[in-house]
Amino acid sequence: MVCLGNICRSPLAEGILRRKVAERGLDWTVDSAGTGNYHVGELPDPRSIAVAQAHGIDITAQRARHLVAADLDRYDLLLAMDAENYQNIRRLARTDAQRNKVKMILNYATPGRNAGVPDPYWNDDGFEGVYRMLEEACTAMIAEES
Ligand code: 4NP
Repeated sequence: MVCLGNICRSPLAEGILRRKVAERGLDWTVDSAGTGNYHVGELPDPRSIAVAQAHGIDITAQRARHLVAADLDRYDLLLAMDAENYQNIRRLARTDAQRNKVKMILNYATPGRNAGVPDPYWNDDGFEGVYRMLEEACTAMIAEES
């Protein structure tokens, strides 16, 4: 799960997917990272922590980290929150196989639309909507990839 800061959207996505993977007993490794390094080492944004908590998910063990090229070897799928993240992840790829691992997460829910998860950093009211989009996309993603 990849966004810009790894403090708002991708930590929520990680928390949501982690819970679904556990519920379904899947043997998947779930992680998140940011294409930017501004917030490395920080907890998720308090507003992401709160919305996750409201849905029974604890994301306070997460710490922001910077996406690295090795992540494209290590993981089978890199799910971008928006088009800018998508381009930045693909810039780190060295092979077609790596480039093909990068997907827009909302395309699992709305195929082919290339819709982005809006960055809620500057919008206090945006977090619940982000949660719902990610919840729907993660359900569709598991159905397709498991
Ligand atoms: P995120 O949100 O990419 O969903 O973690 C942001 C967090 C911080 C900043 C931008 C987006 N920032 O500019 O510091």
